[in-house]
Amino acid sequence: MSGNRSPPHWPEHPSRRVPGPPHGYAHAQPPLEDPDLEPRLPRLQRPFGGISERVPGRDDIIKGTDDDAIVSKLSAVDLGYLDDPFVKYFVKRSSRRPPLINRGSYLRTASLDALTEHFIRSTTEESSTPEDSSTSSASSTATSTTTVAQPLAAAMAGQVVKKQIVSLGCGSDTRYFKFKSKGLSVAKYFEIDFQESTGKKAAVVKKNKLFTDVIGDPDLKLGRGGTELYSKDYCLLSGDLREFTSSIVPRLKAQGFDTSLPTLFLSECVLIYIQPDDSDAIVDWVGKNMDASLFVVYEQINPTDAFGAMMLRNLKARQIELPGIHEYPSLKSQEERFLSRGWLAARAVSMNTLLDTLQADEMKRISSLEIFDELEEWHLLAEHYCVAWAYNARAQSAGQDADDRRAQHISLLFNTVRFTDRHQ
Ligand SMILES: C[S@@+](CC[C@H](N)C(=O)[O-])C[C@H]1O[C@@H](n2cnc3c(N)ncnc32)[C@H](O)[C@@H]1O
Repeated sequence: MSGNRSPPHWPEHPSRRVPGPPHGYAHAQPPLEDPDLEPRLPRLQRPFGGISERVPGRDDIIKGTDDDAIVSKLSAVDLGYLDDPFVKYFVKRSSRRPPLINRGSYLRTASLDALTEHFIRSTTEESSTPEDSSTSSASSTATSTTTVAQPLAAAMAGQVVKKQIVSLGCGSDTRYFKFKSKGLSVAKYFEIDFQESTGKKAAVVKKNKLFTDVIGDPDLKLGRGGTELYSKDYCLLSGDLREFTSSIVPRLKAQGFDTSLPTLFLSECVLIYIQPDDSDAIVDWVGKNMDASLFVVYEQINPTDAFGAMMLRNLKARQIELPGIHEYPSLKSQEERFLSRGWLAARAVSMNTLLDTLQADEMKRISSLEIFDELEEWHLLAEHYCVAWAYNARAQSAGQDADDRRAQHISLLFNTVRFTDRHQ
């Protein structure tokens, strides 16, 4: 977490019962403006002069979701919910968002920041093997890993391990800069998005000293017509995630991506925009090819209740589809997405669960920032977003050394997520 703010703690058992929508609610004025869901339509040059409003394609609309996410994030920064000096560089016209959206942006960012920070900091410690702490809350098949993890974790206690982070559909996210400027970094941080999006990001980063100072590499280079950036520990790549295995993976590898390193894959409002066959291919590839991986997903759920159906109707009116929500509509299915593909452990919680676990002083701080009287809407909204995480580790080869290394990885991954089971 940034500054002196503590990460939210996730209890094992969600205690809040969320009220259903009030009678007639589905017919009321749409209650939410989702930070991700107001795409701006691109203005494109006509080949023979003049500028026209082009009818946007589906991909254009999806790219546009980032514009609203970053405007909402800046609104939360400006009001003091979040501390992030980098966000404003990605926003042309700032706009104060309603309190509901500010809280949503805050909770989403704080939750994923907490997981990222724990990943960066995690080590293999003797006292924190899966055996030492209850994993009963996670839908987990990790029991078979416990016995191998214990002896090695003792031998490797507290070792700092080289790691990577891959941000899928990074948009204008500033996490790399925010963390590194606070002294928290990994061996390599990769970001991937459509070419048009990475082009805009690369231009902002390259021309602002605040960013290049954080990267701190005199050999920082632009590539692919200014749509990619390469440096020692930061790499921005352009590409289509629907071609993950055929196109993205080889290009990641060409930039030093190492399948043997523990790697955090972040999908913050991204996989949901991709057809399940394509997003499943990413989850499959990661689970089968990485020696140790933690996958973190933030996205919408519960599409079939009255509120969820209205959410989808509102999006459809803006030409936005969420193909992933029908395949993974619930917390259970979010976990199954990973467990059915052989991942060792998975857990999904709604944003209400995260909200319930904010520390009292942080809740007090948030509450003091602006008047907020939309509690019922807030809880309904929060019940339609989740954070899911899963981890997996595989042995590269047969033999004791490979088993030991896998056990070390499991210990590290478990240490990353175990904070979610504390403070119940
Ligand atoms: C809602 S934005 C989220 C951006 C960022 N993850 C965040 O939370 O701030 C969704 C992002 O996913 C990207 N995206 C969606 N589908 C993609 C695909 N098939 N290939 C590459 N990027 C994709 C979009 O371009 C957009 O930047």
